[in-house]
Amino acid sequence: MTADNLAYLNDTLQVTPLEPTLGAEISGIRLDRPLSPAQRDQVRQLLLKHKVIFFRDQHITSEQQVAFARQFGELYVHPTTEQKDRTRPEAHLIQAEDAKVAYGDARKGRWHTDTSWLLKPTFGAVLRAVDLPPVGGDTVWADSGLVYRGLPQAVRERIDNAFVTHNFKSSLDRVGYDYPILAHPLVRTHPETGENALFINFSMSPQIVGWSLEESRELVALLLKEYNNAEYQIRFKWSEGTVAFWDNRALLHYPVYNYGDFPRVMERVLIADDDIPHRLREG
Ligand code: SIN
Repeated sequence: MTADNLAYLNDTLQVTPLEPTLGAEISGIRLDRPLSPAQRDQVRQLLLKHKVIFFRDQHITSEQQVAFARQFGELYVHPTTEQKDRTRPEAHLIQAEDAKVAYGDARKGRWHTDTSWLLKPTFGAVLRAVDLPPVGGDTVWADSGLVYRGLPQAVRERIDNAFVTHNFKSSLDRVGYDYPILAHPLVRTHPETGENALFINFSMSPQIVGWSLEESRELVALLLKEYNNAEYQIRFKWSEGTVAFWDNRALLHYPVYNYGDFPRVMERVLIADDDIPHRLREG
């Protein structure tokens, strides 16, 4: 079977799934202009279904990226965003140095979900490739529902009611933003799809609340190993003009830093959420 015969039409949009549970390329749409209400609803449904969706050959401006994201909810202004242009405080430039510094040592885990340190973390992110290295600099996403379901039952039972910390304090302190370290349920029910999935941020020194440090480290190491399993992932090769839109509630992502001193510049816009992560359903 080829990608072509997997592709399907969702009303006017062409959808090519990239992996069985995550990732799809969408065409038949232009992001440089407002979507019709029907198109907006379709994109949202496709996002829920495929978790991360890609639009190639869009070549949109920063203003158009912000306007596109705004059609899916209120935008979130990140406290660490350098305000280069006050007319677009939501546009967050991610430069090569961030991959090296902010996401830390790849062995400890660069896998993260955006703004999980918030009581109500952002639901979605729209990322645009601005300047790419000649080769490398892919992004990998992993399906947190699949990772959870792939765990041995005994592990699932141990963690089902656990809480895990999301510690972004040192970065927030650097910009003078006072916010407590909080913990969210380690297994979260997606508020729209009802799927149970892990919710952990390996770039934020995760610790399981109430467990000994040793037990907590062992579990975090085990989960990190699971996220590194290629069966749960999609690895995306960027091209100029490509825009990705993902669901932070369903996935973790990992920016691959393998391009030496070449520049890599991306622009990210985050969409706010009103949901406090919670566990509702038995898996
Ligand atoms: C991010 O971590 O939010 C951006 C991912 C990337 O730069 O590939």
